[in-house]
Amino acid sequence: MSGTSKVALAFSGGLDTTVCVPLLEEEYDYDEVIGVTVDVGQPAGEFDEAEETAEALGLDHYVVDAKAEFADLCLDAVTANATYQTYPLGTALARPIIAEAILGVAEDEGCDAVAHGCTGKGNDQLRFEAVWRDSDLEVIAPVRELGLTREWEMEYADEKGLPVEGGNEGDWSIDTNLWSRSVEGANLEDPGYVPPEDIYEWTDTPGGKDVETIELTFEDGYPVALDGQEIDPVELIETLNDLAGSHGVGRTDMMEDRMLGLKVRENYEHPAATTLLNAHEALEGLVLTKEEREFKQQVDHQWAEKAYQGLLSAPLVDALDGFVAQTQTKVTGTVTVKFEGGQARPVGRESEYAVYSESAASFNTESVDGIAQEDATGVAKYHGFQSRLANEVTADAEAKKAELLADGNGEATEEDQ
Ligand code: ARG
Repeated sequence: MSGTSKVALAFSGGLDTTVCVPLLEEEYDYDEVIGVTVDVGQPAGEFDEAEETAEALGLDHYVVDAKAEFADLCLDAVTANATYQTYPLGTALARPIIAEAILGVAEDEGCDAVAHGCTGKGNDQLRFEAVWRDSDLEVIAPVRELGLTREWEMEYADEKGLPVEGGNEGDWSIDTNLWSRSVEGANLEDPGYVPPEDIYEWTDTPGGKDVETIELTFEDGYPVALDGQEIDPVELIETLNDLAGSHGVGRTDMMEDRMLGLKVRENYEHPAATTLLNAHEALEGLVLTKEEREFKQQVDHQWAEKAYQGLLSAPLVDALDGFVAQTQTKVTGTVTVKFEGGQARPVGRESEYAVYSESAASFNTESVDGIAQEDATGVAKYHGFQSRLANEVTADAEAKKAELLADGNGEATEEDQ
């Protein structure tokens, strides 16, 4: 290696990434560490914490704004109705974007390596490294590789006089971005423990506010307007997080199957995601045919799996995207959503692509397209024909078998005597 060796660290200013700074110098012999914080819509306080900690550490610190790019990806996820075991994938979707942004800084700054502070138990290590291992840079995971525990990190930080705050709210581990706020760890790890209201920051206790209705307009599957006003993705998501959050919309308390096979208890808040996903699916219900909807569920499921794995760059996803985009050419229209009782319930939908004929569905018309009510008689006669036939055949065959058995038994009894 010529000159000084340099490593770019994914830096949040929390305990894990803070202890990584001296460890990268001491244990990995890097001459220089730079810290990179990527803005995917965390609260302002997190940047202050990162900034202050970096300063106290004497760490060269970069902040990259990836909010707009992240918001676009969240809306791509809406077109694929993407959730993993009911979780709208906020943390998962953000990781590849954060990893790419850090890689960009590392390459610009002539780094030899990239590092993260993830443990060896979670999903994020896999999502970061899937991006980084596609580059020529070395990948370092000090917490995992050195087998660090929180207690060890705390002691080490104390010994070294590192600037770490004494744990956050209730010692929960929190990950926040535009799309979701995740709360895990400490007493929440017990699947039976009922979380107190104060784990929630984005959602008020449901039922405390008067019912409210909004209108969301979609174009080609993407939400473009709120109550008739055009709005860009970041602003839309922020606005809906506030509004739907004030109605207590978008809480998830679940058991999550992580990639390594661990089952983990997770709590999430995601008011905007819930609202947009519900509205989008309601519009698809109006404009897609039954078979498109059913096949799309499989496509959506695969898309969400790859998103959870941090592998949206997989060739499979390009193919899935092709299907999704084709279906979304009809997902244009407006959905009315009612915020009530902690839910964001679609209560009205309209589209010029609606696969819906009022006269065909109505009870009040005699014939449509030359098809009259009586024409259904033939269909009704045939309906269930195969099942009736199959049941009849089986019943006959069984009766025959029983008869033969009875005869056979009779003979046997006679011979025995
Ligand atoms: N388990 C979730 C995921 O893998 C989110 C974890 C968020 N991290 C946290 N410290 N709360 O996507």
